[in-house]
Parts: sequence; C-alpha cells; structure tokens
Amino acid sequence: MALVNEHFLKLQNSYLFSDIAKKVNSFKITHPKDKIIRMGIGDVTQPLPPAVIEAMHKAVDELATKETFHGYGPEQGYSFLIDAILKNDYASRGVYLEPSEVFVSDGAKSDTGNIGDMLRHDNSIGVTDPVYPVYIDSNVMSGRTGILENGKWSDVVYIPCTEENNFIPSLPDRRVDIIYLCYPNNPTGTTLSKDELKKWVNYALANNAIIMYDSAYEAYIQDTDIPHSIYEIKGAKKVAIEFRSFSKTAGFTGVRCGYTVVPKELNAFTLNGETVQLNKLWNRRQSTKFNGTSYITQRGAEAIYSPEGKKQVKETINYYMTNARIMKEGLRACGLNVYGGTNAPYLWLKTPDRLSSWKFFDKLLYEVNIVGTPGVGFGPSGEGYLRLTAFGDRNDTMEAMDRLKKWLHQ
Ligand code: MLT
Repeated sequence: MALVNEHFLKLQNSYLFSDIAKKVNSFKITHPKDKIIRMGIGDVTQPLPPAVIEAMHKAVDELATKETFHGYGPEQGYSFLIDAILKNDYASRGVYLEPSEVFVSDGAKSDTGNIGDMLRHDNSIGVTDPVYPVYIDSNVMSGRTGILENGKWSDVVYIPCTEENNFIPSLPDRRVDIIYLCYPNNPTGTTLSKDELKKWVNYALANNAIIMYDSAYEAYIQDTDIPHSIYEIKGAKKVAIEFRSFSKTAGFTGVRCGYTVVPKELNAFTLNGETVQLNKLWNRRQSTKFNGTSYITQRGAEAIYSPEGKKQVKETINYYMTNARIMKEGLRACGLNVYGGTNAPYLWLKTPDRLSSWKFFDKLLYEVNIVGTPGVGFGPSGEGYLRLTAFGDRNDTMEAMDRLKKWLHQ
C-alpha cells in the first residue's frame, strides 16, 4: 500500500493565485461584456527586451547544426551566464563570489520552494507576515509548520509587518532556525535599510540561523542606500542564501530563469553538532533532481547584461515604476492609505471602511472590474489590505485609476 505524505493534506485546497484565477474566470462567464483590468498576480505585460530575443534566436540557430548543438548543460548553469551574474550583480556592488556559489535555475519560486530539501523537518521557521505563500506552503509539505489554527500555523513564528510598525519586522521573540526575508517585499512593496538588514544578519550569526533572502525584486530599487543583496552586509555569507529571478527583472515569467547563491562559508549542523557546507548539499540536490535551465534561456538571460540589454531592461523597469507612481498618486487622491510602490512594483492598499480583504476584492471585481490580491491571502497580518501590481499596461493602469476615482467619489 502506497502511503501519501500526509503533510500535503494539511494544505488549503488551492494555491492563492489559482483561487483568484478561478474567481475571475467565473466572473468572466457571468459578465462576458465587462472589461477586466488585472492587477492581481505579479505577471509582467511588456515583451522581452530585443537583446534577449536576438540572443535566443541565435541560440536556437546554434541548436540547428551539429557543430554548435548543445545537449545537457551543466546542472549549475553555463559559465557564460554565471560569469555575467558575478560581474554585474555582485562585483559591481563590492560582493565577490565564486562561480561555484551560483546555481542557475528555472526561477526563484522553485528554488525557494525546494531549498528546504536540505534541512531537517524539525527546524523552526520564521516569516514576515504578510508573506509570499510559497515559503509557508513548501514548509507545510515538509512537515515543519504544525497545524493551522485561526489562519496561523502553530509551529511558524509570524513577524507582523503592518502600518503600525511601518512594515519593519522586529526580531523574533522565539528562537527560529530558518528565517524567510523578501526585500523589496512581496506583497507590501516596502524595503529594509542596510541597518535593518544588518540586525537580521547579526541575529542569524548569533543564533546559528539561516536567512532565506529572496531578492527577486531588487531591480526595482530606486533609492541608492537600499541594499540589493544581503551580501552587502558583513557576515551575511555565513548565514544567508540569496534567491534572484529574471522574471520581474527582464520579463522572464514565461521563459523561466533565476539563480540561487549558496556561499561556501554557509554551514548547517548535524544533530551531533558537526558542520556541513550547504553549498555541497545544494549542488548534490540539483545534480540529482535538476538537469539545468535550457541553453536558449540562459543565452537570453546573459543578454540582459549586454550594454543594449541593460538599457532595455532599465526602460521596462522605468515603465512599470511610472505605473506604480501613477497608481500611488491616484490611490492617494482617492483618500486611500497606500504603501510600497516606490522601490517595488507592488502597492499595498489599506481597504476603505475597514472592509475585509476578500470583501474589498469582490467589490473591486464586481463593481469596477479590477482584480487585486486580497492581503489576507498572504497571511493574517494582511487582513484589511489588498495588493495591486504595477505590471500592467499603461492605458489599463490609467483606466483603473479613473474607475477607482469615480467609484470612490460616488
Ligand atoms: C506574485 O504575484 O506574488 C508573484 O507573481 C508570484 C510569483 O512570482 O510566483
């Protein structure tokens, strides 16, 4: 008799974004004529940069002849891409990593979800709340979260980030072994200063904890004093794994490419207290379970670091950040409290009249045909908030603001 991993049975029926897609689809069936503006899932709308398209076409042609064909690549990624990452994303910020500390993958969602494979099931978990649901759900699957009671997992330490604390998480009052931090933050769109991030690195150093640092949105940082990488903080290589993604940086949500940095200085421990280098374990895990990102994709990713690629990526990011500015100004003009959106493509909106997140989501969908993401879907501290993304088309973004203004001023 084959037995299931019963931890899966503890999960809620479906993933947050699948739930929302279902609701939107049923609305479409009952309201076929209404034009929906999607500001829910953080999916990009602008095409890939021309430099990426050109590099991918060239890579396709290479695969067409015997002399330049590529079969299996290195599971860790091709050195042409890893070298470009090291030079442009790290050395340029004074962070020096070895090529074998970088693992190219199909994106940060898979890596943040899979990283726990290397760690025992009885580690304690800390998350900022609200939180990207993958961190929680993947730990539910591994049996680290306990049971769900009133919207909270009993063995997870929730660190609230709300208006009251200006969305700055305090260090946990209970010991945690693994801490998930995402900055710029999904979903609140807020950031951490170097001093704030330093507190977390020092906490992890003092407690032999590990920080899972998701910086998928670092390309959206506009203020020069906000850290792009946790390794800008002294000592972080001893305690942090960093996840990066080309999805939001360069429009790869459908193409799939990202990477994870596992420094060689980072150790975890056996029950007997022996130290184990996590870089070795992740390498072993990836070589067994992953056959690498496609050659075409990696050539496309490499192209974002060319001079034209950089310029084109910047233009697209400016486009989305202009959307974010239009939205922030528009929402404030409607009298709403709104956060984020200055160093991140997400805006975190306090619902009017103390409406619950889902109630406000439904009203927006049915009364103005705008799709957001209910804050409570990201955790208990998200109740009473709604997330909007700036990844839309400009005309749709402006139309959404007009609809909201009319609706709220009725
Ligand atoms: C989001 O909307 O939070 C993201 O698009 C989800 C993701 O990147 O997987």
